[in-house]
Amino acid sequence: MSFDGMETPGRNDECWCGSGKKYKKCHLANDERMEDLANQGFEVLPRTLLKSAADIEGIKYSAEVNVGSLDYVAEHIGVGTSTEEIDQWVYDYCIAHDAIPADLNYEGFPKSVCTSINEVVCHGIPSPDDVLKSGDIVNVDMSTIRNGYFSDSSRMFCIGEVSDEARRLVEVTRASVQAGLAAVKPWGFLGDVSAAVNKVATDAGYTVVREFGGHGIGLEFHEDPWVGFNEKAGTGPVLVPGMCFTIEPMVNMGGQEIDMSDPNGWTVRTADGKPTAQWEVQLVVTETGYELISW
Ligand code: MF3
Ligand code: CO
Repeated sequence: MSFDGMETPGRNDECWCGSGKKYKKCHLANDERMEDLANQGFEVLPRTLLKSAADIEGIKYSAEVNVGSLDYVAEHIGVGTSTEEIDQWVYDYCIAHDAIPADLNYEGFPKSVCTSINEVVCHGIPSPDDVLKSGDIVNVDMSTIRNGYFSDSSRMFCIGEVSDEARRLVEVTRASVQAGLAAVKPWGFLGDVSAAVNKVATDAGYTVVREFGGHGIGLEFHEDPWVGFNEKAGTGPVLVPGMCFTIEPMVNMGGQEIDMSDPNGWTVRTADGKPTAQWEVQLVVTETGYELISW
């Protein structure tokens, strides 16, 4: 019995990943290393989460639309844009590119994208009543399904004249994601990524939301592992080539606490009403580090 219950092919049989190569020329060495780490007591996730080369191509094809729709938003957003318009832009962009927004009807979410302004931590619902004004900071969180594959990323936009302190929050949060990416190493730990993100945010005097985090993604919208950003280095699941997940910390200017009492069941705010920021990237772990998939 292997560490994850998957049947192990013979050395000269086809690899389980679908590459068509012999097992000994494909995942054998990788699997032995995973098995060994599992036997040593480390947290090793099942191989069903590892993406094949064909999966990665499919996920990238999906991400072309995710990135393209956010680029479109970047070119058109500004003072006077309503979040409803953003929703319409990304919906139209997806449909024009053989894709559908993953958010739409996801667990009942009513729109195609999340638009989270100022003190909204995440899951803001686009509305014609929410018109962006100078000084706002807004997160646009986009997810796409194309040919059955999922992609997910989000960006912050500074609208008009933004205060120095709000701009700093946005920039530090972006830097925290970059630090997280730099910590992605095959055979390292997910906690290394978390700790790198958290250090950048907390060194700047901010707090990182505990209740929401990143996630595995690819064949489904939200797969294992869950990716928290308040974890310690050297803890959590081992990073293995082929794992695909997001880094998406929500960084608060004030306290860590959030308010989930909005009657719409979605919109999450900071408890103290202070601004919050988030950037999200999607990556795949490679033999040498990572490859960025969506941003
Ligand atoms: N895009 C979000 C994420 O990063 C999920 C949004 S779910 C929705 O995981 F239903 F609110 F759209
Ligand atoms: Co996500």
